[in-house]
Amino acid sequence: MVEQLRISGGAPLRGVVNLSGSKNAALSVLAGALLTEEPCLLHNVPPIKDVVTMLQVLRSIGVEVSVGDHNAIHLDASGLNTSPPPYDLVKQMRASFYVAGPLLGRLGKAKVPLPGGCVIGSRPVDFHINAFRKLGANVNVEHGFMVAECHRLQATEIYLDPRWCSVGATVNAMMAAALAKGHTVIQNPAREPEVLNFASFLNAMGAQVEGAGSKQVTVQGVERLHGCEFTVLSDRIEAGTYLFAGAMTGGDVTVEPINPTDLEFVLCKLDEAGLEIETEDNSIRVSSDRGFRAVDVATAPFPGFPTDLQPLILTLMCISEGRSVIQETIYDGRLHYVDELRRMGANVTVVNQTAVVRGVPSLSAAPVDSPDLRAGAALVVAGLAAEGDTEISGIQVIDRGYHRLEDKIAQLGGTIARFDTNGNKVNPCSDWQEILASI
Ligand code: UD1
Repeated sequence: MVEQLRISGGAPLRGVVNLSGSKNAALSVLAGALLTEEPCLLHNVPPIKDVVTMLQVLRSIGVEVSVGDHNAIHLDASGLNTSPPPYDLVKQMRASFYVAGPLLGRLGKAKVPLPGGCVIGSRPVDFHINAFRKLGANVNVEHGFMVAECHRLQATEIYLDPRWCSVGATVNAMMAAALAKGHTVIQNPAREPEVLNFASFLNAMGAQVEGAGSKQVTVQGVERLHGCEFTVLSDRIEAGTYLFAGAMTGGDVTVEPINPTDLEFVLCKLDEAGLEIETEDNSIRVSSDRGFRAVDVATAPFPGFPTDLQPLILTLMCISEGRSVIQETIYDGRLHYVDELRRMGANVTVVNQTAVVRGVPSLSAAPVDSPDLRAGAALVVAGLAAEGDTEISGIQVIDRGYHRLEDKIAQLGGTIARFDTNGNKVNPCSDWQEILASI
Protein backbone atom coordinates (compact mmCIF):
# COMPACT_ATOMS: atom_id res chain seq x y z
CA MET A 1 0.00 0.00 0.00
CA VAL A 2 1.36 3.42 -0.96
CA GLU A 3 1.08 5.67 2.05
CA GLN A 4 2.04 9.23 2.76
CA LEU A 5 2.89 11.30 5.81
CA ARG A 6 1.40 14.77 6.10
CA ILE A 7 3.05 17.16 8.50
CA SER A 8 2.03 20.68 9.54
CA GLY A 9 5.26 22.31 10.60
CA GLY A 10 6.03 25.08 13.01
CA ALA A 11 5.06 23.75 16.45
CA PRO A 12 7.94 23.32 18.92
CA LEU A 13 8.18 19.69 20.05
CA ARG A 14 8.21 19.32 23.82
CA GLY A 15 8.17 16.32 26.11
CA VAL A 16 9.65 12.91 26.78
CA VAL A 17 10.15 10.09 24.26
CA ASN A 18 10.25 6.51 25.47
CA LEU A 19 12.72 4.90 23.08
CA SER A 20 12.11 1.60 21.30
CA GLY A 21 14.60 -1.21 21.09
CA SER A 22 17.54 -0.72 18.75
CA LYS A 23 16.96 -1.94 15.21
CA ASN A 24 20.59 -2.82 14.62
CA ALA A 25 21.06 -4.60 17.95
CA ALA A 26 17.80 -6.53 17.50
CA LEU A 27 18.83 -7.74 14.04
CA SER A 28 22.10 -9.19 15.31
CA VAL A 29 20.49 -10.73 18.41
CA LEU A 30 17.75 -12.43 16.36
CA ALA A 31 20.40 -14.00 14.14
CA GLY A 32 22.54 -14.92 17.16
CA ALA A 33 19.66 -16.99 18.56
CA LEU A 34 20.32 -19.46 15.71
CA LEU A 35 23.49 -20.53 17.50
CA THR A 36 21.54 -22.67 19.96
CA GLU A 37 18.91 -25.38 19.64
CA GLU A 38 17.38 -24.13 22.90
CA PRO A 39 14.69 -21.39 22.95
CA CYS A 40 15.53 -17.71 23.48
CA LEU A 41 13.17 -15.07 24.85
CA LEU A 42 13.94 -11.58 23.61
CA HIS A 43 12.54 -8.38 25.11
CA ASN A 44 12.37 -4.90 23.57
CA VAL A 45 12.51 -6.16 19.97
CA PRO A 46 10.97 -3.28 17.98
CA PRO A 47 8.01 -4.12 15.69
CA ILE A 48 9.53 -2.45 12.63
CA LYS A 49 9.79 -3.60 9.03
CA ASP A 50 13.45 -4.70 9.08
CA VAL A 51 12.86 -6.88 12.12
CA VAL A 52 9.81 -8.41 10.45
CA THR A 53 11.97 -9.17 7.41
CA MET A 54 14.55 -10.85 9.64
CA LEU A 55 11.84 -12.96 11.28
CA GLN A 56 10.63 -14.02 7.83
CA VAL A 57 14.20 -15.01 6.95
CA LEU A 58 14.47 -17.01 10.19
CA ARG A 59 11.18 -18.79 9.54
CA SER A 60 12.38 -19.68 6.03
CA ILE A 61 15.25 -21.67 7.57
CA GLY A 62 13.17 -23.59 10.08
CA VAL A 63 13.03 -21.29 13.11
CA GLU A 64 9.80 -21.14 15.09
CA VAL A 65 8.84 -17.59 16.02
CA SER A 66 6.12 -16.75 18.53
CA VAL A 67 5.17 -13.99 20.95
CA GLY A 68 5.40 -14.22 24.73
CA ASP A 69 4.10 -11.85 27.41
CA HIS A 70 4.70 -8.10 26.97
CA ASN A 71 5.41 -8.41 23.25
CA ALA A 72 8.57 -10.48 23.86
CA ILE A 73 9.79 -12.55 20.91
CA HIS A 74 10.27 -16.25 21.48
CA LEU A 75 12.63 -18.02 19.07
CA ASP A 76 13.13 -21.76 18.79
CA ALA A 77 15.88 -22.68 16.35
CA SER A 78 15.93 -26.41 17.18
CA GLY A 79 14.70 -27.13 13.65
CA LEU A 80 17.27 -24.89 11.91
CA ASN A 81 18.09 -26.16 8.41
CA THR A 82 20.46 -25.14 5.63
CA SER A 83 17.90 -24.36 2.93
CA PRO A 84 18.86 -20.97 1.46
CA PRO A 85 16.67 -18.05 2.54
CA PRO A 86 14.74 -16.58 -0.44
CA TYR A 87 16.56 -13.82 -2.34
CA ASP A 88 13.34 -11.76 -2.30
CA LEU A 89 13.75 -11.43 1.47
CA VAL A 90 17.54 -11.11 1.59
CA LYS A 91 17.63 -8.32 -1.00
CA GLN A 92 15.31 -6.22 1.17
CA MET A 93 17.81 -6.05 3.98
CA ARG A 94 21.51 -6.53 4.12
CA ALA A 95 21.49 -7.74 7.73
CA SER A 96 19.81 -10.94 6.45
CA PHE A 97 23.37 -12.03 5.74
CA TYR A 98 23.81 -12.37 9.52
CA VAL A 99 22.33 -15.86 9.29
CA ALA A 100 25.51 -17.03 7.52
CA GLY A 101 27.76 -16.97 10.62
CA PRO A 102 25.50 -19.05 12.90
CA LEU A 103 24.56 -21.51 10.13
CA LEU A 104 28.20 -22.16 9.46
CA GLY A 105 29.10 -22.36 13.15
CA ARG A 106 26.26 -24.65 14.16
CA LEU A 107 25.48 -26.72 11.06
CA GLY A 108 28.77 -26.46 9.15
CA LYS A 109 27.05 -25.20 6.02
CA ALA A 110 25.59 -21.92 4.85
CA LYS A 111 24.09 -21.13 1.47
CA VAL A 112 22.90 -17.54 1.55
CA PRO A 113 22.09 -15.16 -1.32
CA LEU A 114 24.45 -12.18 -1.55
CA PRO A 115 22.46 -9.15 -0.37
CA GLY A 116 23.29 -7.05 -3.44
CA GLY A 117 23.26 -3.26 -3.82
CA CYS A 118 21.65 -0.68 -1.62
CA VAL A 119 20.28 2.78 -2.30
CA ILE A 120 22.81 4.48 0.02
CA GLY A 121 25.81 3.00 -1.76
CA SER A 122 27.83 -0.06 -2.58
CA ARG A 123 27.73 -2.57 0.30
CA PRO A 124 29.77 -5.71 -0.37
CA VAL A 125 30.16 -8.62 2.10
CA ASP A 126 33.79 -9.45 1.28
CA PHE A 127 34.93 -8.82 4.89
CA HIS A 128 32.39 -11.36 6.16
CA ILE A 129 33.52 -13.92 3.58
CA ASN A 130 37.20 -13.35 4.39
CA ALA A 131 36.45 -13.93 8.08
CA PHE A 132 34.69 -17.24 7.32
CA ARG A 133 37.64 -18.32 5.16
CA LYS A 134 40.11 -17.40 7.92
CA LEU A 135 38.07 -19.57 10.30
CA GLY A 136 38.69 -22.49 7.96
CA ALA A 137 35.49 -22.57 5.90
CA ASN A 138 35.60 -23.44 2.25
CA VAL A 139 33.71 -20.54 0.64
CA ASN A 140 32.58 -20.14 -2.95
CA VAL A 141 30.50 -17.43 -4.51
CA GLU A 142 28.36 -18.91 -7.25
CA HIS A 143 25.18 -17.86 -9.05
CA GLY A 144 24.57 -15.02 -6.60
CA PHE A 145 24.97 -17.18 -3.50
CA MET A 146 27.70 -17.53 -0.92
CA VAL A 147 28.18 -21.24 -0.32
CA ALA A 148 30.34 -21.99 2.72
CA GLU A 149 31.16 -25.35 4.29
CA CYS A 150 33.35 -26.65 7.07
CA HIS A 151 33.65 -29.58 9.51
CA ARG A 152 34.19 -27.46 12.58
CA LEU A 153 35.44 -23.90 12.32
CA GLN A 154 38.97 -23.40 13.69
CA ALA A 155 39.99 -20.37 15.76
CA THR A 156 42.20 -17.82 14.06
CA GLU A 157 43.19 -14.14 14.02
CA ILE A 158 40.82 -12.01 11.95
CA TYR A 159 42.16 -8.61 10.96
CA LEU A 160 39.33 -6.30 9.92
CA ASP A 161 40.10 -3.19 7.86
CA PRO A 162 40.62 -0.36 10.39
CA ARG A 163 39.31 2.16 7.85
CA TRP A 164 35.81 0.66 8.22
CA CYS A 165 35.66 -1.42 11.44
CA SER A 166 32.67 -3.15 9.83
CA VAL A 167 29.70 -3.73 12.12
CA GLY A 168 28.30 -6.58 10.05
CA ALA A 169 31.61 -8.40 9.62
CA THR A 170 32.31 -8.09 13.35
CA VAL A 171 28.91 -9.59 14.22
CA ASN A 172 29.24 -12.44 11.73
CA ALA A 173 32.82 -13.19 12.81
CA MET A 174 31.80 -13.23 16.50
CA MET A 175 28.94 -15.64 15.81
CA ALA A 176 31.06 -17.99 13.72
CA ALA A 177 33.91 -17.90 16.26
CA ALA A 178 31.56 -18.59 19.20
CA LEU A 179 31.29 -22.26 18.20
CA ALA A 180 34.76 -22.60 16.62
CA LYS A 181 37.50 -24.72 18.14
CA GLY A 182 39.93 -22.52 20.09
CA HIS A 183 40.58 -18.88 20.79
CA THR A 184 39.77 -16.38 18.01
CA VAL A 185 41.10 -12.82 18.01
CA ILE A 186 39.25 -10.13 16.01
CA GLN A 187 41.40 -7.05 15.39
CA ASN A 188 39.72 -3.69 14.62
CA PRO A 189 36.20 -4.82 15.44
CA ALA A 190 33.27 -2.42 15.34
CA ARG A 191 32.88 -0.69 18.70
CA GLU A 192 29.27 0.45 18.28
CA PRO A 193 27.08 0.11 21.41
CA GLU A 194 24.92 -2.37 19.47
CA VAL A 195 27.95 -4.65 19.10
CA LEU A 196 28.55 -4.50 22.86
CA ASN A 197 24.91 -5.38 23.46
CA PHE A 198 25.28 -8.26 21.02
CA ALA A 199 28.41 -9.52 22.81
CA SER A 200 26.44 -9.49 26.09
CA PHE A 201 23.75 -11.57 24.38
CA LEU A 202 26.31 -14.12 23.19
CA ASN A 203 27.75 -14.32 26.69
CA ALA A 204 24.25 -14.78 28.12
CA MET A 205 24.04 -17.84 25.85
CA GLY A 206 27.25 -19.19 27.35
CA ALA A 207 29.74 -17.81 24.81
CA GLN A 208 33.09 -16.48 25.98
CA VAL A 209 33.49 -13.10 24.31
CA GLU A 210 35.82 -10.50 25.79
CA GLY A 211 36.94 -7.03 24.80
CA ALA A 212 33.77 -5.82 23.05
CA GLY A 213 34.03 -2.04 22.78
CA SER A 214 37.83 -2.12 22.55
CA LYS A 215 40.14 -2.50 19.57
CA GLN A 216 40.41 -6.24 19.99
CA VAL A 217 37.71 -8.80 20.67
CA THR A 218 38.55 -12.34 21.71
CA VAL A 219 36.20 -15.29 21.44
CA GLN A 220 36.97 -18.56 23.17
CA GLY A 221 34.96 -21.11 21.20
CA VAL A 222 32.66 -23.50 23.09
CA GLU A 223 31.06 -26.82 22.09
CA ARG A 224 27.51 -25.54 22.41
CA LEU A 225 25.48 -22.54 23.50
CA HIS A 226 22.27 -22.52 25.52
CA GLY A 227 19.03 -20.55 25.37
CA CYS A 228 18.58 -17.33 27.36
CA GLU A 229 16.36 -14.35 28.10
CA PHE A 230 17.72 -11.03 26.91
CA THR A 231 16.71 -7.38 26.56
CA VAL A 232 17.75 -5.40 23.48
CA LEU A 233 19.18 -1.96 24.28
CA SER A 234 17.46 1.29 23.24
CA ASP A 235 17.86 2.72 19.77
CA ARG A 236 20.40 5.55 19.87
CA ILE A 237 19.64 6.53 16.27
CA GLU A 238 15.96 6.88 17.11
CA ALA A 239 17.06 8.92 20.16
CA GLY A 240 19.14 11.18 17.94
CA THR A 241 16.22 11.64 15.55
CA TYR A 242 13.91 13.00 18.28
CA LEU A 243 16.66 15.17 19.77
CA PHE A 244 17.22 16.78 16.36
CA ALA A 245 13.44 17.18 15.95
CA GLY A 246 13.22 18.96 19.31
CA ALA A 247 16.15 21.19 18.46
CA MET A 248 15.06 22.13 14.96
CA THR A 249 11.55 23.07 16.07
CA GLY A 250 12.91 25.28 18.88
CA GLY A 251 11.52 22.85 21.46
CA ASP A 252 12.65 20.78 24.41
CA VAL A 253 12.86 16.99 24.11
CA THR A 254 14.07 14.32 26.51
CA VAL A 255 14.80 10.76 25.34
CA GLU A 256 15.01 7.76 27.66
CA PRO A 257 16.20 5.17 28.52
CA ILE A 258 19.64 5.73 26.99
CA ASN A 259 23.23 5.85 28.11
CA PRO A 260 24.42 9.33 26.99
CA THR A 261 27.88 7.99 26.13
CA ASP A 262 26.24 6.09 23.27
CA LEU A 263 25.74 9.47 21.58
CA GLU A 264 28.67 11.35 23.09
CA PHE A 265 30.18 12.75 19.91
CA VAL A 266 26.78 13.68 18.49
CA LEU A 267 26.08 15.65 21.69
CA CYS A 268 29.47 17.40 21.32
CA LYS A 269 28.44 18.54 17.86
CA LEU A 270 25.00 19.69 19.07
CA ASP A 271 26.71 21.63 21.85
CA GLU A 272 29.04 23.25 19.31
CA ALA A 273 25.95 24.17 17.27
CA GLY A 274 24.59 26.09 20.26
CA LEU A 275 21.99 23.72 21.74
CA GLU A 276 21.30 23.28 25.43
CA ILE A 277 22.09 19.72 26.50
CA GLU A 278 21.47 18.00 29.83
CA THR A 279 22.35 14.38 30.49
CA GLU A 280 21.46 12.02 33.31
CA ASP A 281 22.55 8.40 33.73
CA ASN A 282 19.64 7.19 31.64
CA SER A 283 18.38 10.15 29.63
CA ILE A 284 19.34 13.04 27.36
CA ARG A 285 17.53 16.37 27.13
CA VAL A 286 18.08 18.87 24.33
CA SER A 287 16.45 22.27 24.05
CA SER A 288 16.91 25.28 21.81
CA ASP A 289 15.42 28.57 20.83
CA ARG A 290 16.86 28.06 17.36
CA GLY A 291 19.77 30.38 16.46
CA PHE A 292 22.07 27.48 15.55
CA ARG A 293 25.72 27.85 14.58
CA ALA A 294 27.23 26.02 11.59
CA VAL A 295 29.48 23.07 12.47
CA ASP A 296 31.52 20.75 10.26
CA VAL A 297 31.02 16.99 10.52
CA ALA A 298 32.69 13.93 8.99
CA THR A 299 31.02 10.57 9.59
CA ALA A 300 33.14 7.77 11.07
CA PRO A 301 32.79 4.42 12.82
CA PHE A 302 31.93 4.63 16.56
CA PRO A 303 32.91 6.65 18.58
CA GLY A 304 32.84 9.02 15.60
CA PHE A 305 29.76 10.72 14.19
CA PRO A 306 27.34 7.98 13.03
CA THR A 307 26.55 7.91 9.32
CA ASP A 308 22.95 7.07 10.28
CA LEU A 309 22.58 10.55 11.80
CA GLN A 310 24.33 12.36 8.95
CA PRO A 311 21.04 13.33 7.22
CA LEU A 312 19.79 14.76 10.53
CA ILE A 313 22.81 16.98 11.23
CA LEU A 314 22.84 18.14 7.61
CA THR A 315 19.17 19.09 7.90
CA LEU A 316 19.90 21.03 11.09
CA MET A 317 22.72 22.84 9.29
CA CYS A 318 20.23 23.94 6.60
CA ILE A 319 18.78 26.45 9.11
CA SER A 320 22.00 27.30 10.97
CA GLU A 321 23.95 30.50 10.71
CA GLY A 322 26.99 30.23 8.44
CA ARG A 323 28.51 27.57 6.23
CA SER A 324 29.08 23.98 7.22
CA VAL A 325 30.85 21.10 5.50
CA ILE A 326 29.39 17.61 5.95
CA GLN A 327 31.52 14.71 4.74
CA GLU A 328 29.99 11.27 4.31
CA THR A 329 32.91 8.87 4.59
CA ILE A 330 31.11 5.53 5.04
CA TYR A 331 28.67 5.26 2.11
CA ASP A 332 29.17 6.57 -1.40
CA GLY A 333 25.49 7.27 -2.12
CA ARG A 334 24.18 8.77 1.06
CA LEU A 335 23.67 12.37 -0.01
CA HIS A 336 21.04 11.99 -2.76
CA TYR A 337 18.26 13.11 -0.44
CA VAL A 338 19.77 16.61 -0.50
CA ASP A 339 17.76 17.23 -3.69
CA GLU A 340 14.59 16.86 -1.61
CA LEU A 341 15.84 19.34 1.00
CA ARG A 342 16.58 21.81 -1.80
CA ARG A 343 12.92 21.58 -2.75
CA MET A 344 12.21 22.82 0.77
CA GLY A 345 14.48 25.83 0.26
CA ALA A 346 17.79 24.48 1.57
CA ASN A 347 21.02 25.83 0.08
CA VAL A 348 23.28 22.78 -0.30
CA THR A 349 25.97 21.92 -2.83
CA VAL A 350 27.29 18.38 -3.12
CA VAL A 351 30.64 17.41 -4.61
CA ASN A 352 31.44 13.70 -4.44
CA GLN A 353 30.65 12.71 -0.85
CA THR A 354 30.87 16.19 0.65
CA ALA A 355 28.02 18.63 1.14
CA VAL A 356 28.50 22.33 1.67
CA VAL A 357 25.50 23.80 3.46
CA ARG A 358 24.80 27.52 3.63
CA GLY A 359 22.20 28.14 6.28
CA VAL A 360 18.89 29.86 5.40
CA PRO A 361 16.51 31.42 7.97
CA SER A 362 13.89 28.67 7.55
CA LEU A 363 12.73 25.81 5.36
CA SER A 364 9.41 25.84 3.54
CA ALA A 365 6.99 22.95 3.15
CA ALA A 366 6.96 20.96 -0.10
CA PRO A 367 5.97 17.53 -1.36
CA VAL A 368 9.07 15.35 -1.00
CA ASP A 369 10.01 11.73 -1.51
CA SER A 370 11.92 9.64 1.00
CA PRO A 371 14.83 7.83 -0.68
CA ASP A 372 16.03 5.78 2.31
CA LEU A 373 15.38 5.18 5.99
CA ARG A 374 17.45 7.89 7.67
CA ALA A 375 17.03 10.43 4.89
CA GLY A 376 13.28 9.86 5.31
CA ALA A 377 13.55 10.60 9.03
CA ALA A 378 15.47 13.78 8.24
CA LEU A 379 12.70 14.88 5.85
CA VAL A 380 10.14 14.30 8.63
CA VAL A 381 12.19 16.53 10.93
CA ALA A 382 12.60 19.13 8.17
CA GLY A 383 8.79 19.07 7.71
CA LEU A 384 8.22 19.56 11.43
CA ALA A 385 10.52 22.60 11.42
CA ALA A 386 9.29 24.07 8.12
CA GLU A 387 6.54 26.60 7.60
CA GLY A 388 3.44 25.03 6.03
CA ASP A 389 2.26 21.52 5.19
CA THR A 390 4.79 18.93 3.98
CA GLU A 391 3.77 15.70 2.27
CA ILE A 392 6.27 12.85 2.33
CA SER A 393 5.90 9.89 -0.01
CA GLY A 394 8.04 6.75 -0.12
CA ILE A 395 7.52 6.29 3.62
CA GLN A 396 7.75 2.49 3.56
CA VAL A 397 11.52 2.98 3.92
CA ILE A 398 10.98 4.99 7.12
CA ASP A 399 8.90 2.10 8.49
CA ARG A 400 12.02 -0.07 8.20
CA GLY A 401 13.43 1.56 11.32
CA TYR A 402 10.94 3.66 13.31
CA HIS A 403 8.36 2.24 15.69
CA ARG A 404 5.25 4.43 16.26
CA LEU A 405 6.87 7.46 14.65
CA GLU A 406 3.64 9.43 14.24
CA ASP A 407 2.41 8.64 17.77
CA LYS A 408 5.69 9.68 19.34
CA ILE A 409 5.79 12.96 17.40
CA ALA A 410 2.13 13.68 18.17
CA GLN A 411 2.81 13.11 21.88
CA LEU A 412 5.46 15.82 21.64
CA GLY A 413 2.92 18.22 20.15
CA GLY A 414 3.79 17.79 16.46
CA THR A 415 1.08 17.56 13.81
CA ILE A 416 1.65 14.49 11.68
CA ALA A 417 -0.62 11.81 10.21
CA ARG A 418 -0.42 8.91 7.76
CA PHE A 419 -2.82 8.58 4.84
CA ASP A 420 -3.45 5.87 2.29
CA THR A 421 -3.94 6.52 -1.44
CA ASN A 422 -7.66 7.10 -0.88
CA GLY A 423 -6.90 9.86 1.59
CA ASN A 424 -7.98 7.79 4.61
CA LYS A 425 -6.03 8.12 7.84
CA VAL A 426 -4.17 4.93 8.82
CA ASN A 427 -2.27 3.79 11.88
CA PRO A 428 0.42 1.11 11.46
CA CYS A 429 0.06 -1.99 13.62
CA SER A 430 2.65 -2.41 16.37
CA ASP A 431 1.37 -5.54 18.08
CA TRP A 432 3.71 -8.50 17.52
CA GLN A 433 0.90 -11.04 17.77
CA GLU A 434 -0.95 -9.42 14.89
CA ILE A 435 2.19 -8.82 12.84
CA LEU A 436 3.34 -12.43 13.12
CA ALA A 437 -0.09 -13.70 12.17
CA SER A 438 0.09 -11.63 8.98
CA ILE A 439 3.49 -12.80 7.67
C1 UD1 B 1 25.70 -1.28 10.03
C2 UD1 B 1 24.35 -0.74 10.42
C3 UD1 B 1 24.01 0.51 9.63
C4 UD1 B 1 25.13 1.52 9.74
C5 UD1 B 1 26.48 0.89 9.42
C6 UD1 B 1 27.64 1.83 9.67
C7 UD1 B 1 23.17 -2.77 11.04
C8 UD1 B 1 22.12 -3.76 10.72
N1 UD1 B 1 23.36 -1.77 10.16
O1 UD1 B 1 25.61 -1.66 8.66
O2 UD1 B 1 22.80 1.06 10.15
O3 UD1 B 1 24.89 2.57 8.83
O4 UD1 B 1 26.69 -0.28 10.23
O5 UD1 B 1 27.63 2.26 10.97
O6 UD1 B 1 23.79 -2.83 12.08
N2 UD1 B 1 32.14 -2.94 3.84
C9 UD1 B 1 32.84 -3.60 2.85
N3 UD1 B 1 32.84 -4.97 2.86
C10 UD1 B 1 32.17 -5.68 3.81
C11 UD1 B 1 31.48 -5.02 4.83
C12 UD1 B 1 31.48 -3.62 4.82
O7 UD1 B 1 33.42 -2.98 1.98
O8 UD1 B 1 32.23 -6.93 3.76
C13 UD1 B 1 32.10 -1.47 3.85
C14 UD1 B 1 30.67 -0.97 3.58
O9 UD1 B 1 30.39 -0.89 2.20
C15 UD1 B 1 30.67 0.38 4.25
C16 UD1 B 1 31.62 0.18 5.44
O10 UD1 B 1 32.39 -1.00 5.15
O11 UD1 B 1 31.23 1.33 3.38
C17 UD1 B 1 30.95 -0.02 6.78
O12 UD1 B 1 29.97 -1.05 6.65
P1 UD1 B 1 29.47 -1.90 7.90
O13 UD1 B 1 30.00 -1.34 9.17
O14 UD1 B 1 29.71 -3.33 7.60
O15 UD1 B 1 27.91 -1.63 7.84
P2 UD1 B 1 26.73 -2.62 8.04
O16 UD1 B 1 27.08 -3.67 9.06
O17 UD1 B 1 26.20 -3.07 6.74
